[in-house]
Amino acid sequence: MQADADLDATNDLGLRVINPAAHIRRAAAVEPHQRFLRRPYQYHDAVGKGSQTGLIFIALSTDPVRQFVPVQQRLDEADLLNIWTQTVGSAVFAILPGVHAGDYLGSQFIGA
Ligand code: HEM
Repeated sequence: MQADADLDATNDLGLRVINPAAHIRRAAAVEPHQRFLRRPYQYHDAVGKGSQTGLIFIALSTDPVRQFVPVQQRLDEADLLNIWTQTVGSAVFAILPGVHAGDYLGSQFIGA
């Protein structure tokens, strides 16, 4: 199991071990409702010209505006990881709940 990073850790000189603009600090939830599930897919296609290496970052949330957007805004304001990354696209998808026998996809939203 991965241990949580100690964001308050300091070294012998009293300086912070984790940079104030480090991705892990900026991305950490400031409010409990900003937590969401993450699923990264790393890809590398060495065939052909140029590098096609990257990460598809998937955030799973029930309320993207409340959960995801505040985190993304903090990363936009300051995140040392931004030096190394370039965003090439984004999209929001609605994933419907599962279906029981005799029911149909999205039935709970009809007439809501
Ligand atoms: C190339 C893109 C990215 C890389 C390589 C990356 C890498 C990492 C790494 C190594 C961690 C720490 C380990 C972990 O908790 O999994 C982390 C944490 C995290 N990242 Fe990213 N990340 C990327 C993009 C993003 C984006 C686009 C978002 C959201 C807008 C994001 C949100 C988070 C969050 C919420 C955490 C957990 C912070 C915590 O509570 O500890 N990351 N990321």
